[in-house]
Amino acid sequence: MTAPRVDATRIRDHVLRLGEKHPPVDLASADFTVRDPAAVRRRFAQPLDYMARVEMEVERNVLELAVMLPGVSETDRLFYADVWAPQEERHGLLLDTLVRRLDLPPAEPDLDGPTAQVRVLGALAHIPAVQEVIRLLYYLTGAATEKSAMLAYAAMSADLEAMGETAVKRTVVDAIKVQEPGHFAFYRMSAQEMIETSVLKPWQLRIARFIRSKAFSLVGASTPERKADFGGVLVNLGLADDLERTVRDVSRLEHHLLWAQDQGMDVPAYALRAFRDAADSYRERVQGAALAA
Ligand SMILES: [Fe+2]
Ligand SMILES: [Fe+2]
Repeated sequence: MTAPRVDATRIRDHVLRLGEKHPPVDLASADFTVRDPAAVRRRFAQPLDYMARVEMEVERNVLELAVMLPGVSETDRLFYADVWAPQEERHGLLLDTLVRRLDLPPAEPDLDGPTAQVRVLGALAHIPAVQEVIRLLYYLTGAATEKSAMLAYAAMSADLEAMGETAVKRTVVDAIKVQEPGHFAFYRMSAQEMIETSVLKPWQLRIARFIRSKAFSLVGASTPERKADFGGVLVNLGLADDLERTVRDVSRLEHHLLWAQDQGMDVPAYALRAFRDAADSYRERVQGAALAA
């Protein structure tokens, strides 16, 4: 067996470095000057609303994590409670401030406590063998979520640049964008470490594959309404133009870690289906609204 490329020390170092290198963005460093507010509203109202909401929901995510990962390791706790949550919270605040400055309706995050589904998972998570499966799924979901955010902010940044909105591009979107890859790297390394050190027995891996393929969750898209909202981000930021490429990017890690033995499977079909459904339901909603008008 070859030595694992990722070990617990490396992951912990990464988290510590992340905390030092990326303190939460200082709100005072943001310049919300917009040259053409009407154009920015037209272009970004929908994706901004969604992104602001998801970033602001971090508070609820932390509560859910505490329930879902009862035996959490010190490194995991350090990451999500001390590094990740404070950064994401500030992302939400920055986007929410931008939304308000643009005279758009404020985002309405869902800050209710953990859902029944999460509580059931939390109860099962007290069984160590189940806990390990949930932990792998948490890392894979986290990686897909962060990668989606990276793609969304990259598209927003490029569009704002093209529109000449350099203040908001540099001090808001890019300031957020630069913090997402470190989150992605944490989830990637953590999932990789679990696989490389064979933490999961083959039967646990089979369960992880099964659950992932049946319940691939989109970022913050827990209801049909929100699924369509996520689809809106894909459509409005041009990520649906080449949906297969987007999904390949988002699911590359799990494809590699869970499905590598399935030769010929280029993009996990369940992920492609989830993204396509989301984009379709957004388009249907827009069409329905146009017909009703
Ligand atoms: Fe973020
Ligand atoms: Fe993030």
